[in-house]
Amino acid sequence: MLCLGIESSCDETAVAVVSEGGLLSERLASQADMHALFGGVVPEIAAREHLSVLPVLCREALAAAGAAPGDLDGVAVARGPGLLGSLLVGLSFAKGFCLGTGARLVGVNHLHAHLLAPGLELEMLFPALGLLVSGGHTHLYRMDSPGSFRLLGRTLDDAAGEAFDKVAKRLNFPYPGGRFLDELAQEAEPDHGLFPRAYIDNDNLDFSFSGLKTAVVTHVDAHPGLRAERMAGAGEPWGRGVDRAALARVCASFNWAVSDTLRIKAERALDRERGIRALVVAGGVAANSGIRAAMRDLARRRGLELFLPSPRFCTDNAAMVAHAGFLALSLGRRHGLDLEAVPRGRAVPEDWLQGAD
Ligand code: KG4
Ligand code: ZN
Repeated sequence: MLCLGIESSCDETAVAVVSEGGLLSERLASQADMHALFGGVVPEIAAREHLSVLPVLCREALAAAGAAPGDLDGVAVARGPGLLGSLLVGLSFAKGFCLGTGARLVGVNHLHAHLLAPGLELEMLFPALGLLVSGGHTHLYRMDSPGSFRLLGRTLDDAAGEAFDKVAKRLNFPYPGGRFLDELAQEAEPDHGLFPRAYIDNDNLDFSFSGLKTAVVTHVDAHPGLRAERMAGAGEPWGRGVDRAALARVCASFNWAVSDTLRIKAERALDRERGIRALVVAGGVAANSGIRAAMRDLARRRGLELFLPSPRFCTDNAAMVAHAGFLALSLGRRHGLDLEAVPRGRAVPEDWLQGAD
């Protein structure tokens, strides 16, 4: 079975082709530089850009896979959650493709696709605890199989990546600044008393990062030596004239506060859920060194197999969408041409048409 995957939920446009043998080809165009000028993603620009690059990427991905449009059995498209205008571009393209070729359409939950991404490289183990940490989401799931997810907890306000990016913006780092913060954090030991691990003194599995973000921003505002005057280039993101040692300590402490909060809630979920054999950590923020170390340690202590996708499968990509779509089609799931896009903040329905053509 050949399945095309289309990702256009935020600011990356990507197309990939998978078969039983795995990933055959992938093409990705990032708009990050365009949005960096504005310090965040501009939805109108994102949608227009998807529209202009999607046909080219699709042609190239098919050629690289040695496939003609008519060879495809299925077309998987990320249907949400994401930016509505951007999702609609991908959905319309996928629907047109299916109308023209007769391929089966399947809408994919972008968040589930992130958590299934390790399956592109390794055979996954279930039941698993899935932690999705990205720029837009922080979700904790029980995954009983590739087709069965149960949401256990989620952020009530900022996503982990959003907190990273907002703190980084205050420090005048280039957007998105999460990785610069992480890089600088390597130069210092964390001060565990500097920032609070927010929203842990309760008995639930939800997260809240906006209080932590405010605590860091307030600290930065009170210590002018921590912030560059103007946003520096990517070569030296923290800028000149900054107290680098003090800034590194702030970054390390913030990194630790986020990582340890995620660790506490993941550990609480493991105490409650029966039969968990694996821990999956996915999404762009899964590239964070502190989070990777905390989750590695947690998996070792609890005797779990750890699945951490390679960095290129952590950030938004179409391989994970094609893979999740391939798995859904294998389960007999598909959608009609009335498939709807789901904007951020709304739950993605499980509204497949099960079974035959
Ligand atoms: O999953 P993703 O590519 O986009 C969304 O679907 O949101 O994640 C992007 C997020 C951004 O917030 C970025 O700053 C963050 O991942 N990020 C990091 C690191 N690398 C990327 N945050 C912390 N530490 C990193 N090393
Ligand atoms: Zn994503």
